[in-house]
Amino acid sequence: MAEALGDYLADPRTVWTADSADLLRILAATKPRLVLLDPAVAADGGPSVVPALEAARRTGATVVLCGRYDDLRLRSAELTRVTNLVFGLPHDIRRLARTIRLTMTMDGAPPPAPVSPSLRKAIGEGRDALERAVRGLRAGRPPDPAALVEAATGISDLAGSPELRRMRDLLRAHHDPTYTHSLRVAAGLVLFGEAFGIGAGDLRTLALAGLLHDVGKALLPRSLLEKPQRLAADEWHLVRQHPVTGEKMIRDIGGLPATVHEVAARHHERLDGSGYPNGLTAAELDEASLLCTIVDMHVALTEPRAYKAAISDVEAFNLMATRHAGGIEGHFLRRYRELILDQAAEPAAA
Ligand SMILES: [Fe+2]
Ligand SMILES: [Fe+2]
Repeated sequence: MAEALGDYLADPRTVWTADSADLLRILAATKPRLVLLDPAVAADGGPSVVPALEAARRTGATVVLCGRYDDLRLRSAELTRVTNLVFGLPHDIRRLARTIRLTMTMDGAPPPAPVSPSLRKAIGEGRDALERAVRGLRAGRPPDPAALVEAATGISDLAGSPELRRMRDLLRAHHDPTYTHSLRVAAGLVLFGEAFGIGAGDLRTLALAGLLHDVGKALLPRSLLEKPQRLAADEWHLVRQHPVTGEKMIRDIGGLPATVHEVAARHHERLDGSGYPNGLTAAELDEASLLCTIVDMHVALTEPRAYKAAISDVEAFNLMATRHAGGIEGHFLRRYRELILDQAAEPAAA
């Protein structure tokens, strides 16, 4: 595996071991940039490798857990907590290498170009506001809507700047899936809204809707969100409830625009009635939810997940225009495709 990946990864200093004592020795002696970890290390009776992996992460290593698709140890909460990516094998080796490379760029090394203070501030505030919101809701305390609006304002204030596109790219392979996914959807919705000539106030509402569209998912067990295998029927049922849970959580927060409620409740509905949770059809769906469906689908397809690698923008749009054509709005899709691919042609794009 390490050799196969070595052909694709620029940096060949790769550590690959299934033995925990061996791994501890290597981590103590070197500062690897990449650790490909076999799940056997947690179960071979040796000393725990978790603190050593945490230390390696702090010095910039990217840790990738790879094992057979049906190996239950891939779901070990202790191991997944210290890994950037989890992959079930067999897996397309080129895609695996590409995702690892992207993650190393995003997580391990400093970003290739300096990040402006306004971008850093928008990302930081968005994340903080989401994390506080989820912590508060878990504890039964509604978060402060003003703080969420402020975070959305930071993102929508970047409208019209290449910074917004950069935000989406910077967050692409981040390992903290729900928050970064939500920030990317917020950034994508602002890009989209701006292209349709939507005014500043409504852009802020779109950013807020993007930030909170999956808030119901943040209360699902992490093990379920990061499960590398296909979900069982009861697990899938639970995941499909996140629009309902999310909309209720937004009601509990109170004081947020109706669009934010609608997007959370309807972003998995489809024009042809094939979506969930209510199987709504075209006439029942609002514009903001239709925009969010497209951004959310594109963002999800181009992000790595525990159960799949990321695909390129072009592959994602091809899939959306074929397999998902009946469920999403064609005119919006074409406009968004142009918007993203035009920008991808610029030199700063990933
Ligand atoms: Fe969702
Ligand atoms: Fe989503």
